[in-house]
Amino acid sequence: MSKKSPKVISDYNGYDYKKIFWEDADRAYEDAADRMAIRKLLPKHMDKFVDIAGGYGRLADEYLPRAKSATLFDYSKTELKQAREIYGRRLKTKAGDIYDLPFKDGEFTSLMMIRATHHFKDMKKVTAELYRILKPGGVAVIEVANKKTLPRMVRFLTRRTKINPFNRSVANLTDISKNGFYNYHPKYMEDIFKKQGFKIEKVLSVSNFRNRTLKNVLGTERLIKLENGAQKVLAPVRFAPSIYYKLVKPGDK
Ligand SMILES: C[S@@+](CC[C@H](N)C(=O)[O-])C[C@H]1O[C@@H](n2cnc3c(N)ncnc32)[C@H](O)[C@@H]1O
Repeated sequence: MSKKSPKVISDYNGYDYKKIFWEDADRAYEDAADRMAIRKLLPKHMDKFVDIAGGYGRLADEYLPRAKSATLFDYSKTELKQAREIYGRRLKTKAGDIYDLPFKDGEFTSLMMIRATHHFKDMKKVTAELYRILKPGGVAVIEVANKKTLPRMVRFLTRRTKINPFNRSVANLTDISKNGFYNYHPKYMEDIFKKQGFKIEKVLSVSNFRNRTLKNVLGTERLIKLENGAQKVLAPVRFAPSIYYKLVKPGDK
């Protein structure tokens, strides 16, 4: 890690994210919502692709058929080992820190980063690194952990939380994890993307119905159907816990 790099705040080494977070938990709806968005945003044919903070490659079956070459990048060696056990040689793996990516300038024609921004304290540095490793004309699909969600607005307006979802400051939810946990206002992130030089091509509202009561009452299958229509329709209001961006680095491929 470089001296200037903010310290790694969420170390998944030794943590069985696959089993504990996905397999043993009721998250089929969230998984389906991520996949739907990725199918809509990732280019159909990709040359050199990298999944940044891709964990054990949960979403690799979405991008492997579309990419000539695919790399999974993560800090956790535990995650990368699991990925190699699942995908073998079809997926290259590389360990490192997001703030100091071990890739050359313009090395990739496309990338994605899903369910990772909540671990990163400095999204300006992260965005600069992602921009650097993309070729001109390249595409980045980035999921942002949204601060301005509907439940949080209700909680703030009824004085049940001090986190103000309407202002653009970064929400550091230290009460959720001792290591810290960050949520971002969509406008704050959009400013960072634009200042970095990215063009925002598409936005989707994702995991719109991430709610225990809704799951119990409507059931996962029905929520997945509703989610598909809602991702585009609700994008302008940016109220969902996950906001997906398709960004383009200007220039010819
Ligand atoms: C919630 S998981 C998401 C994994 C995958 N993208 C998915 O959606 O299933 C977050 C990932 O970020 C990785 N991570 C955390 N801090 C990191 C850092 N500083 N550099 C690289 N990866 C990091 C973790 O190891 C973990 O695999």
